[in-house]
Amino acid sequence: MDRILIRGGVPLEGVVEIGGAKNAALPLMAASLLTDEPLVLENVPDVADVGTMRRLLQMLGVEARHPPLAAHTLVLQCPEVLDTTAPYDLVRRMRASVLVLGPLLVRAGEARVSLPGGCAIGPRPIDLHLEGLSRMGAEITLEGGYVHARAPRGLKGAVIRFPKPSVGATENLMMAAALARGTTVIEEAAQEPEIVDLAQCLRAMGARIEGAGTSRIEIEGVERLSGARHRILPDRIETGTYAMAAAITGGRLELRGTRLDLLGAAAEVLDEAGVVLEEIEGGIRAARSPRGLVGTDVMTLPFPGFATDLQAQFMALMCIAEGAAMITETIFENRFMHVPELARMGARITVHGATALVRGVPKLVGAPVMATDLRASVSLVLAGLAAEGETEVNRIYHLDRGYERLEQKLAAVGARIERLP
Ligand code: EPZ
Repeated sequence: MDRILIRGGVPLEGVVEIGGAKNAALPLMAASLLTDEPLVLENVPDVADVGTMRRLLQMLGVEARHPPLAAHTLVLQCPEVLDTTAPYDLVRRMRASVLVLGPLLVRAGEARVSLPGGCAIGPRPIDLHLEGLSRMGAEITLEGGYVHARAPRGLKGAVIRFPKPSVGATENLMMAAALARGTTVIEEAAQEPEIVDLAQCLRAMGARIEGAGTSRIEIEGVERLSGARHRILPDRIETGTYAMAAAITGGRLELRGTRLDLLGAAAEVLDEAGVVLEEIEGGIRAARSPRGLVGTDVMTLPFPGFATDLQAQFMALMCIAEGAAMITETIFENRFMHVPELARMGARITVHGATALVRGVPKLVGAPVMATDLRASVSLVLAGLAAEGETEVNRIYHLDRGYERLEQKLAAVGARIERLP
C-alpha cells in the first residue's frame, strides 16, 4: 500500500504543467462506442481512472492505443461491439463506468451495467440516467444488481427535465440522443465545462447539439457519427488544487496549460480567501495575498458555482486562515471524511450536517493521516505541505485516480515529498 511522506514548511516556487481534465476524458472515451471510426483524443491525463475506463472499453470491443511517442494521445476505435456488459468489479471501482450505458444502448441496442453501489462520498444513484433513457424509449429492468437496458428499435428523441443538474446523466443522455431518432431537449442540464467539451467533440463527430454549457441542451439525432480528433480541455480541479498549494505554502506557482475561466465562481472565492490568481500567457499565476489567508464562507454548487471537487482542498486552506470559514457541501451527502484527518493535524473544524465550521489556527502539525476519496486525499497533501514536521498520507491509490505524477510535480517546485512503497 503506497504512502506519501511530506516534510512541510517550504513555500512552493516554480512552474506546474496542468493536464487534461479527467472528468472530460472519461465521457469522451465512452463516446468512442458511438462510431466504428477512430476517435483520437489528445491531452489525455495519465491517471488510474483513465486506465480503468480503457480496460472497460476494451472488454466491450474498443481497440485502444497510444501513437508512438505520444503518451497523452489515445486512439480509440470500436469496429463492432463485442460485449454489452459493464461488470460490477469495474463499476464499483469507478462510478463513471455508467457512462457506457447510453452509447452502448444506441450502438448495440442493449446494455447491462452493474449498479454502482455506494462509494465513499455517498450513495450516488443513477436514477436520473435511467429515467432519461426510459423516456427515450429504452426498456429498463434491474436484475441481480445489474441495470439491463434494451432498445432493439433504437431510441427516440424526448423532452427530459432533470429535478437537479447531474453531470453524468447529462453526458449519458447527450451521447444517447446524438444517435436517437428525432430531437431531444435536456432541461436543467449540467453546465460544467466538461459538458461543453463533450459536446464539442460530438459535434466534430457529426452530432447536432446546441446549448451545451447552458441549462437547456437540444440534440437533433443523426443516422451515424464519424471519427474525430479532439484535444481535451485543461483540468479545472487540478488547476484549483495547485493554486491552493501555492497559497497554503505562502509560495508562488505558474500553472501552465490552463485557463482562469474554468474555475467559475471558485476564482472569486479564492480571491476573497487570499489566493491571488493572475492570467498570464498560457496559464495562471497563483500566490498567497500579502494580506494573508482570510476565513471565507463557501457553498458548493453545480457549475458555475464553487466546485464540490475543490471543497476538501479549500477546507485545508481555511485551516490556517485568519478567522473562521463556513463550508457547506450541497452536492454529495458525505463529503467531509477529510475533517477528522485534518483535525489530527491540529485543525479546528466542527461539522453540523452539510456544514463545516473551520476556525483558523496559526499552524498545522504533521501527523500520519488516511486518504478516503480522491479529493479528500489531496487536501491532506495540501495540509502536509503547510504543516510543521512530517505528514504521512496513507492509501494514496485514491490520489492516483485523478492526479498525474502529483509528487513529482510538487517536488519540482520545492516540496519535500516522496512516495514510499
Ligand atoms: C461528476 O460525478 C464528477 N465525476 C464528480 O467528480 C463530481 O464531483 C460531480 O460530477 C459533481 O460535479 C465525473 O465527471 C467522472 P452528478 P457525477 O451526477 O456525474 C446525485 C471527482 O472527484 N445523482 O453531477 O456522478 C448524486 O448522488 C468526482 O473527480 C442522483 O441522485 O455527479 C450527487 O449527489 C467525484 N441521481 C448529485 O446528484 C443520478 O442519477 C450530483 O451528481 C445521478 C446523480
